[in-house]
Amino acid sequence: MSIEQLAETAQAMVAPGKGIIAIDESTATIGKRFASVGIENTEENRRAYRELLLTTPRLSQHISGAILFDETLRQSTKDGTPFANYLAKQGIIPGIKVDKGTTALAGCPGELVTEGLDGLRDRLKEYYKLGARFAKWRAVINIAEDIPSGTCIEANAHALARYAALCQEQGLVPMVEPEVLMDGDHDIQTCYEVTEATLRSLFGALHEQGVLLEGTILKASMVLPGKDCDEDADVEEVAESTIMCLKSTVPAILPGIVFLSGGQSDEDATAHLDAMNRVGNLPWPLSFSYGRAMQQAALQLWSKDLKGNVAKAQALVFERAKANGLAAQGKWEG
Ligand code: 13P
Repeated sequence: MSIEQLAETAQAMVAPGKGIIAIDESTATIGKRFASVGIENTEENRRAYRELLLTTPRLSQHISGAILFDETLRQSTKDGTPFANYLAKQGIIPGIKVDKGTTALAGCPGELVTEGLDGLRDRLKEYYKLGARFAKWRAVINIAEDIPSGTCIEANAHALARYAALCQEQGLVPMVEPEVLMDGDHDIQTCYEVTEATLRSLFGALHEQGVLLEGTILKASMVLPGKDCDEDADVEEVAESTIMCLKSTVPAILPGIVFLSGGQSDEDATAHLDAMNRVGNLPWPLSFSYGRAMQQAALQLWSKDLKGNVAKAQALVFERAKANGLAAQGKWEG
């Protein structure tokens, strides 16, 4: 696999006005989302729900790629077309979450490290054969008293870089995701400092391990006050802080940055992305790779009638894709 091919895929992932739909919840996580609306967590319900999302009419107008979970990459539409083939035919690039989730970081109370490196080379080989052309790995950075530690930031950056180097070796574009969580009562300045340290460490590790940035996508969290912080930040402050933080840490050669929604409301996730793109003159395209902010309205509606509400739920998915596609160009009108 040449760097040109990786770069081409990475650029297509952040094509103007397009972003990524994240539907890569593990079986346990989708179970929590289903439980919140009273849906049973069976394999068929997971398949039917993912089919609903992926077969949304005209989705490819605003969606360039979809991140799937291992089980979903092996599943098919009800007429027997593997999801990866269905997506590729629509011009949507299939992606795959390859980390195996987080575990407590030994010696660092309250902190997490992401696992999944063992055997990753062979899994990536198989995922490529199944049609995946990019992969995602999520690291989690918690903010609380005295954390994150430098040890935690570095351990996660090192794992992200090892995963990214393996992806490129196997012909998949790595989407590197160091998520700074919104949980807590910290202020926006604290989030800024932690995000800056995290990204600085990540790009250092990527450089050390020979990862080619031209064939890499960053999935970033926005710079926001913690969920329980007393002081709110307005849309402009979030947009300006996030851009300043990214500009001071992310090399301009990166093909693009996409954001996770991280528990923001649908409206906030769109408004923040739109405001950032209205600033203009940025070194990289800024787009979205939302999970909850793409899906939650559709899931709510679908749960009320799993057979009867498919088309109506798909209309909501399309609405969210369109709004975020406009926000990726700074053209969302609210
Ligand atoms: P959210 O947009 O729901 O945060 O999910 C995106 C994602 O892929 C987190 O890993």
